[in-house]
Amino acid sequence: MTVQRTLSIIKPDATNRNLTGRINTVFEENGLRIVAQKRIRLTIEQAKAFYKEHDGKPFFDGLVQFMASAPVVVQVLEGEDAIAQNRRLMGATDPSQAEEGTIRKMFALSKGENSVHGSDSETSAAREISFFFNALEITG
Ligand code: CDP
Ligand code: MG
Repeated sequence: MTVQRTLSIIKPDATNRNLTGRINTVFEENGLRIVAQKRIRLTIEQAKAFYKEHDGKPFFDGLVQFMASAPVVVQVLEGEDAIAQNRRLMGATDPSQAEEGTIRKMFALSKGENSVHGSDSETSAAREISFFFNALEITG
């Protein structure tokens, strides 16, 4: 086990419903420290660039429109095994498949509007953190 950092996004469906605090409580009560955080409104171009790995998939256009539809909270979470720990806390992409107690089970509206994003590997965590933050903006 090593201390890692991962990129999390509280998505528009959750910021619209004022769920930032409740989602952050899940992180803070389960071993993850919020070491950087900001609330921003993504442009369509920024959303396309962030999710470029999904370009060409049937859900890509809807995903991009959704992510640019309202503010998001982007954050860096730090802790033991943070990448996998965050994915566990998030639950499955489709909330109907998500385990009880996970963020998506508790809050997600649908497979698309599923409240949170989390990096899925060390490589994507590094890319995604540097997409939103520079080193001076992150402090443990
Ligand atoms: O977010 P996660 O890593 O769990 O899933 P993904 O496969 O990387 O997909 C990224 C995002 O695209 C999801 O979180 C959904 O918001 C959206 N998506 C969708 O709308 N429909 C799908 N069939 C798959 C993903
Ligand atoms: Mg993903």
